[in-house]
Amino acid sequence: MQLLLMGPPGAGKGTQSAELIKKFSIPQISTGDMFRAAVKEGTELGKKAKACMDKGELVPDEVTIGIVRERLAKDDCKNGFILDGFPRTVEQADALKKILDDLGIKLTRVLNIHVPAENLIERAVGRRICKNCGATYHVKFNPPKTENKCDNCGGELYQRGDDNAKTMKTRLSTYENSTRPLIEYYKKVGIYTEVDGGQPITKVTEDLVNVLSSAAD
Ligand code: AP5
Ligand code: MG
Ligand code: ZN
Repeated sequence: MQLLLMGPPGAGKGTQSAELIKKFSIPQISTGDMFRAAVKEGTELGKKAKACMDKGELVPDEVTIGIVRERLAKDDCKNGFILDGFPRTVEQADALKKILDDLGIKLTRVLNIHVPAENLIERAVGRRICKNCGATYHVKFNPPKTENKCDNCGGELYQRGDDNAKTMKTRLSTYENSTRPLIEYYKKVGIYTEVDGGQPITKVTEDLVNVLSSAAD
């Protein structure tokens, strides 16, 4: 199953990917997570990415497409994958089509998590992530059992540098200008489904799984 999970910043792509990878035993490929790992390692890629991420702008297409091409060629993608946060531009979508054509595979479905713009800043600003295992929480909508401690591993929680109201405004306008056009793009391909991301986390998961089960029939 080759899935693409779309949605504006803070929509729940990472949260839902974490559930879907367990259910379908396929890897999550998040370009945002890959860039954050490169920033942590201090690589050239990390330096380039950080400058864009801090501003809420997109990392240049040629850089992003290159890392996805390498990642999709790995063995663990042979039985499928979930792309989270890629593509984000029409150029990236065209490049993805070419990468998949070369690998002889097709996207199974594009799932868009729809959340009204007015809810997204609160979601991002309240997000907390485990330093140790990467689990995602929200101070209000999905709080850990003990404040600032991960339920899974006891790790300390942190806040992403771009999860502030100012950077979120730029991230949201970047989404509107560069990424929203992909909705029409994938509607034309005929593999697009939207789910209501304004519902509780477990209900959104249920809807996504239902779409995928009926798509497999
Ligand atoms: P990236 O890391 O992908 O960030 P993003 O797209 O802005 O999305 P987020 O990760 O912020 O949100 P999410 O949808 O994963 O939400 P989550 O599940 O965590 O990218 C970061 C940066 O990297 C970009 O700005 C760009 O610079 C660069 N980049 C990445 N990909 C790129 C590309 N392809 N091209 C160029 N540049 C790229 O949930 C958010 C919060 O809400 C959490 O606290 C969660 O607990 C809570 N929550 C989730 N679901 C619900 C719900 N149903 N109800 C209530 N709360 C919920
Ligand atoms: Mg994410
Ligand atoms: Zn943890």
